[in-house]
Amino acid sequence: MRSKIPSFIMIPSFLSVIIFMLYVFFVSYNHISYLVHPVTIFFVSITTILLYILESINNLIFRKKLQSFSKEERKKIFEENEGNYFYRLYKFIFYDYKRMTHNEVKKIDHGFDGIIELDNKLPMWWIHLFYLTIVFSAIYFFSYLLIDYSNPYKEYDIAYKNQLKEIEIFEKNSPQVTIENASFKENLINSGKILFDENCATCHQSDGSGNIGPNLTDDYWINKKEKDLFKNIYSVIWNGSVNNPTMRAFGKSGEIKGNDIEKISSYVYFINKKSKKPLAGKAPQGIKITKWSKM
Ligand code: HEC
Repeated sequence: MRSKIPSFIMIPSFLSVIIFMLYVFFVSYNHISYLVHPVTIFFVSITTILLYILESINNLIFRKKLQSFSKEERKKIFEENEGNYFYRLYKFIFYDYKRMTHNEVKKIDHGFDGIIELDNKLPMWWIHLFYLTIVFSAIYFFSYLLIDYSNPYKEYDIAYKNQLKEIEIFEKNSPQVTIENASFKENLINSGKILFDENCATCHQSDGSGNIGPNLTDDYWINKKEKDLFKNIYSVIWNGSVNNPTMRAFGKSGEIKGNDIEKISSYVYFINKKSKKPLAGKAPQGIKITKWSKM
């Protein structure tokens, strides 16, 4: 009766396994962190302490009971229960193995070559580790097969969605640039070109030389709303053209955000200021403006 695993070890271990299973099978895997939730830890610790007290009381009662046994019986029981549980566990794991290797080794005689093979018993820790791998693989196999736990595609899906959400939150919380604080930035030109290709190239050509929309690389402008060239470009993209609704209000309508308009404007400003202009461009439209105020 005494050599059993003490309840204050047995029950919390079972409890942990059960809680773990519950989380694995009923809660999606990204809530596993609840396992180390303070409430769970508190609950398991209290249970362990209570069980430990119970075990101690049990021990005391057992000692009292021992006195009624005969000397022989008592000696036998003491030998079996030498030390505390951990000592017995240690003995169970290593001691038997040692004894086997010392004197009770099975020998297999091959006969034909005169070599004798020693057939050592496998140590307990090794055997149990082996069983553990079987249990582990079974759990892993079925959880992979039947539920989303440990499914890399699902994990990727969720991570991807979370990331998109984070980006959305970030963009909501980080204020967008407005015409007041927008300015030409050289490091925005490249990302601006990508956005220009997506949104504007159909009407203005990728190099800005013009198509349905006017040539953006020359000095002729139909729309002049701002004194500064960069701000003028920003303004047209934000408000669209008053004269011609074909050039729509990308910013006002919410189609393109302020930060992106700053990037596109930087690209347009850049191709307009470049000394090397596209060879073939749309004929000038509007009035020639070369004197823009400095930003
Ligand atoms: C559907 C065709 C179309 C698209 C798409 C378009 N534009 Fe335009 N854009 C025009 C037209 C047409 C004009 C001339 C408006 C006018 O006559 O006032 C114009 C004018 C402009 C002007 C002012 C040119 C001037 O001389 O006043 C700028 C700058 C400009 N567009 C930039 C852009 C940018 C940047 C984009 C992409 C975000 C874009 N456009 C997308 C057709 C378009």
